[in-house]
Amino acid sequence: MAAGAERIDFVFKVVLIGDAAVGKSQILARFARNEFTIDSKATIGVEFQTRTVVIDHKSVKAQIWDTAGQERYRAVTSAYYRGAVGAMLVYDITKRQSFDHIARWLEELRGHADKNIVIMLVGNKSDLEEQRAVPVEDAKEFAQREGLFFLETSALQATNVETAFLTVLTEIF
Ligand code: GTP
Ligand code: MG
Repeated sequence: MAAGAERIDFVFKVVLIGDAAVGKSQILARFARNEFTIDSKATIGVEFQTRTVVIDHKSVKAQIWDTAGQERYRAVTSAYYRGAVGAMLVYDITKRQSFDHIARWLEELRGHADKNIVIMLVGNKSDLEEQRAVPVEDAKEFAQREGLFFLETSALQATNVETAFLTVLTEIF
């Protein structure tokens, strides 16, 4: 093997979905580059980043896709979901509406993605506990009913971001 070439055993496509401004792009920046930007710009179209992790002695390249929460900036739906084996369904714990919309995001996801896709419900911005508008119990119940994994994260404080992705990647694997 050439110097610097990495051996990749698996490539897994994971998609991020959820309302605008819930923190999808910052969750991705935290996981892929360990970065966070307070004045993050709204995503336009589609972007992706990769990070390779080792699971069970195999190197797994996670290719994580990110699109706009706002309808008018979104990527072509069917292309976005094509080939995805994992999904992060993100809401903001301080914005009740972003949680109420999760059912719709899930419906779109189930309508377009493979039926075996691994889905993680993610309540982001857990650092803003004093502004909480979505009780943990509500999200837990929803996740249980729908058969989803669930975690609260903070991209800002780097809480649970790693665990959320590793849980999904390990489950796919
Ligand atoms: P769209 O691209 O428009 O769909 O939005 P997005 O879901 O990608 O949101 P983005 O990552 O751009 O974050 C929106 C805002 O929330 C930015 O001001 C971020 O700095 C902020 N933000 C993201 N994650 C966190 C977090 O964990 N805690 C706090 N306090 N703010 C966050
Ligand atoms: Mg974004």
